[in-house]
Amino acid sequence: MQIFSEGQVHFYAENNQLRSAKVFFNPFRRIDRDLNVLFIESLGKHNLRGIDAFGASGVRGLRLAKETGCFSEMVINDIKTEEIIKKNISLNRLGKICRASNINAFYLDSLGKFDYVDIDPFGSPASFLMASIDTTKLGGVIAITATDTAALYGKANKACLRKYGSLSFKSTYFNETGLRILLKKAEETANLKGFSIEPLFFDVRRHYIRAYFKLVSQRESEIGYIYQCSRCINRTLSPMERCDYCGAKMLKTGPLWLGKIFDKKIADRMHLLSMREERFSNYKEYLDILRKEIEIPTYYTTDSLASLLKTNERKIEKFDARTVFNPKGFRKEGSLQDVVKYYSSIL
Ligand SMILES: C[S@@+](CC[C@H](N)C(=O)[O-])C[C@H]1O[C@@H](n2cnc3c(N)ncnc32)[C@H](O)[C@@H]1O
Repeated sequence: MQIFSEGQVHFYAENNQLRSAKVFFNPFRRIDRDLNVLFIESLGKHNLRGIDAFGASGVRGLRLAKETGCFSEMVINDIKTEEIIKKNISLNRLGKICRASNINAFYLDSLGKFDYVDIDPFGSPASFLMASIDTTKLGGVIAITATDTAALYGKANKACLRKYGSLSFKSTYFNETGLRILLKKAEETANLKGFSIEPLFFDVRRHYIRAYFKLVSQRESEIGYIYQCSRCINRTLSPMERCDYCGAKMLKTGPLWLGKIFDKKIADRMHLLSMREERFSNYKEYLDILRKEIEIPTYYTTDSLASLLKTNERKIEKFDARTVFNPKGFRKEGSLQDVVKYYSSIL
């Protein structure tokens, strides 16, 4: 066991990112935890009751409790590591706010209702969604992590169908569809209990997807399909048999969440905090792109358009509707013909 520091906390963990580690800790997920702290602060709420349901060392729950000042109670739970969590709580003198527990996250609701529930298991969070919904207050926030990106990013289609009930697919915007499939699963599960989700923020990287959403009363679901050309980069949300750009067969993929994937006001506040506070300054540029994102599904990339048109690749800095999903990605409403016209107009 070794002592680590991250943000404003110190904690014992093992320097081992394998499932077999006694106390799992992945230092490369710091970005995710920094953004988690920033997200909670941007909500501007206080006296929250939170649970870090898959605590491991407890680093996430400890940081949320100490750095945000938004929680009056934080339960840090883990089926395996309760003793080390207790030790880490006292190391940080957080005994007044944090307490350790060791229940199986399938039975989270035995701990009462929470304003904030964090689900960060190994692999897919799908099987813990129902328990997280049962233990969240109406209007409360749930954050879920998926690290089974092969399934969600279109590399393991059978696994995606089995775990999420959707046909995933390889595309130039694979990470956005991964997030949308995950959100669809969350919405579908919430619907079973008479609720809906309202996505607030996301953090999508190569090895994980984090989605933050609010639990709200049931609304009309924003779930649908994407029709993707089997040959070129054309895609549409309305049924199409043959691609209207190259004539190849269109593939029906999904179902997936087609509504908003984040809340603009929260993105604005997160950006403002990143401008004001040194501890968040690394995320200024990222959050500036996010808050300006156009809220339409799927993005295009400059390299895929250059190869479609057999032309020079345009510089992404010249596009005014960029996306955080891809450093070469931008959004444009309309058909592929409209996108091609827009792309070609940028010199
Ligand atoms: C990926 S780690 C969590 C990482 C941690 N959130 C962080 O940011 O460092 C997953 C943890 O979940 C715990 N775990 C696995 N299945 C569980 C279950 N059914 N209920 C509660 N904890 C569980 C494991 O012991 C492991 O420590």
